[in-house]
Amino acid sequence: MQKFYHIVTYGCQMNVHESEKIAGNLVELGYENTDDMYGADIVVFNTCCIRENAENHAFGNIGMLKKLKSQKKDMLIAVGGCLTQQLGKAENLHEKFPFVDIIFGTHNLYKFKELVLLKEKQKKAVMEIVDGDMQIREGDKPFRTSYPNAWVNITYGCNNFCSYCIVPYVRGRERSRKSEDIMAEVRELISQGYKEITLLGQNVNSYGNGSDALSFPQLLKAIAEIDGKFRLRFMTSHPKDFSEELAKVISENPKICKCVHLPVQSGSNAVLKAMNRKYTREDYIDKVKTLKKYAPDCALTTDLIVGFPGETENDFNATLELVKTVGYSSAFTFVYSKREGTVAAKMENQIPEDVSKRRIMELVELVNSLTREHSAKYIGKTVEILCEDFDKKKNMYLGRDEYGRMGYFESNTDVIGEFVNIKITKANGVSLIGERI
Ligand code: 5AD
Ligand code: SF4
Repeated sequence: MQKFYHIVTYGCQMNVHESEKIAGNLVELGYENTDDMYGADIVVFNTCCIRENAENHAFGNIGMLKKLKSQKKDMLIAVGGCLTQQLGKAENLHEKFPFVDIIFGTHNLYKFKELVLLKEKQKKAVMEIVDGDMQIREGDKPFRTSYPNAWVNITYGCNNFCSYCIVPYVRGRERSRKSEDIMAEVRELISQGYKEITLLGQNVNSYGNGSDALSFPQLLKAIAEIDGKFRLRFMTSHPKDFSEELAKVISENPKICKCVHLPVQSGSNAVLKAMNRKYTREDYIDKVKTLKKYAPDCALTTDLIVGFPGETENDFNATLELVKTVGYSSAFTFVYSKREGTVAAKMENQIPEDVSKRRIMELVELVNSLTREHSAKYIGKTVEILCEDFDKKKNMYLGRDEYGRMGYFESNTDVIGEFVNIKITKANGVSLIGERI
């Protein structure tokens, strides 16, 4: 009888791609995807712990599965990812939710299949958290779900230890895949018809890290030279490693999207120092100027945190000023969340919730107004959209232009996976509406 899996993914693109790898394991075991959790034979939660609310959300939803499990005793429940990789969390989870069958971490995805087979043989829960595994295992067969885009890992882990961030503790030290393995994967994906490749790493700019013959700009250039019409994106870039050479490579290769996600986090030098970001506001603005010198039309997006310990009103105003100076096309905004085990968690002057709330609202308003301004400039212009999906509610196709803006349009034929020119007639906050030409 056909068995089904259902995966719930929390967090970033790295997790989205890792869920594709988990799905690949399950497909090898003969499972098929189902969108209906209640009809699944195995439910997998791929979790995130970057902020407290991500963690609470996952915990809450796992708790809700208790009833389902009591009604469907043969259903397997697996929980893995960043949350379980935190020190002591797997044990916590097991105690609190003894009905969870498999608990795994971030380092042993490649053997998820084995963990499922083991659980099928034994009654007690399977719990495996591996620490500090530096080995890169090639040959996984992700079951991709984001056509025409394909995610491709280039690095794993992070060495930066920004003082607020849990990632280096749950994903280990930075390691880079061999450039020939990355190139082979991209060539294969292009030959299969993928039209957009997004290179993934916690800090793509430090790719190579001395161990590989290629630097990140060299790798990017080599991938952009692969034959075929496709778009190339990458995330995330750390400003301290964003070089002039990279700006040049972006400007010289039409396949590389003119759209860079460059998280600044704060516009205040005092806060940046306390965050251990290793650049100043001035360094950041210089990098942006260099990028714009080579690629004047390049769109910039960013991540911003408010309410970091010790953040004064002046510090916060410096962030607002920086956002206006750079003129981001959009930005992700976060309230600082205390993560146990990080350096910032022990800092004095944690900011009261009401102050952080006011600051985030002010920042969001500014970011939204910039986004609207940016979108309004599109009206009357023709843009090339890579069609990604069909929105049943709007009855329209949708996709993004190379700068990352979402555009909606009507079409009588299915154009998912095709490049389509649309003339923008309306701008609606973050998204655009246009007519096919
Ligand atoms: N609190 C709030 N935001 C955080 N981020 C990372 N750690 C925290 C934290 N403890 C944000 C950063 C990062 C993005 C992925 O998440 O802005 O760039
Ligand atoms: Fe976290 Fe900083 Fe590493 Fe990004 S660069 S994952 S914010 S420690």
